[in-house]
Amino acid sequence: MNRGSRVTGYGTALPERVITNHDLAQILDTSDAWITERTGIKERRIGGTTRALGIEAAQLAMDMAGVTGADLDGVILATTTPDRVIPATASSLQLAIGARCGAFDLNAACSGFVYGLNVAHGLILAGAERVLLVGSETLSRFVDWEDRGTAVLFGDGAGAVVLSAVSGDDNALLGWALDCNGTLEKSLYCDFGGFIHMDGREVFRQAVRIMVSTCENALEAAGLGTDEVDLVIPHQANIRIIQSACQKLGLSEDRTVEVLSWTGNTSSASIPLALADAADSGRLGEGDIALLVGFGAGMTSASALLRWDL
Ligand code: ACO
Repeated sequence: MNRGSRVTGYGTALPERVITNHDLAQILDTSDAWITERTGIKERRIGGTTRALGIEAAQLAMDMAGVTGADLDGVILATTTPDRVIPATASSLQLAIGARCGAFDLNAACSGFVYGLNVAHGLILAGAERVLLVGSETLSRFVDWEDRGTAVLFGDGAGAVVLSAVSGDDNALLGWALDCNGTLEKSLYCDFGGFIHMDGREVFRQAVRIMVSTCENALEAAGLGTDEVDLVIPHQANIRIIQSACQKLGLSEDRTVEVLSWTGNTSSASIPLALADAADSGRLGEGDIALLVGFGAGMTSASALLRWDL
């Protein structure tokens, strides 16, 4: 097909309020040493709404891409923490940025951003010129702050990209894989009006396995080997999950991006936050091939090989 997509802009947003591990140790039976050693997380940002964080990140991404809301042909908001049940938070985001196109929420938990990337790419293959993809989360609203097993893990934030149509030769989405294993849905869930419940050990074990298999599937689809990957941009849940999966894949740790030490796990927002951090710091340069990999409740998994053209 003589059509493809590439990222033409990105942006992020984080709440101002910082909660450190030391802060949590004041209210929970935990310690900075325990949280750091088991997860790699030192602090997280808390506050705001999914809509407001999403708008801020979206506006920055659109500014970088040089587009306005009126130029968009699709708005996808990847979130597992919408502001309301009805309507989709994407509706009010669409209004705020002045878009006049289809807009919807996509919930694939922490894999949401990479799911969204593939859906946005699909819309472009079907004829859309520009699609805005936002990952925005306010997980702090669904955390039981008295449960040390989950409260230490999550944070709020948002990241966004604009995907634009290019010719097939310039297509930057080189390969992808999506998966879901519904038999694991009870290992991580949140009911209406409730808090996040998680079997941490089971999620950890499955996350490593799933992360390896989704990466292998995307690499095979793209016809690439791990040696051709310049940078891995993984979902930021736990540094030990990232280290363990990358070791099994034969990818050295210096080829991975980490932001979880200061963001915590921000679900759908974690990969675009890490992507922006890598681009801003110069770790991701023009022509580099990035392997984006997400895994999360469901349990879902998703990966995408993206050539960076910015
Ligand atoms: N501080 C101190 N002690 C704690 C804490 C805490 N914050 N949390 C649990 N403990 C205790 C437990 O009570 C347990 O005590 P016990 O032995 O007396 O019963 C002990 O520490 C060990 O508990 P484990 O659950 O076995 O600890 P583990 O090493 O597995 O670490 C953790 C727990 C960090 C949750 C880990 O299992 C993990 O990261 N799992 C994956 C979580 C994850 O990534 N979730 C999200 C992925 S998907 C998504 O993002 C939606």
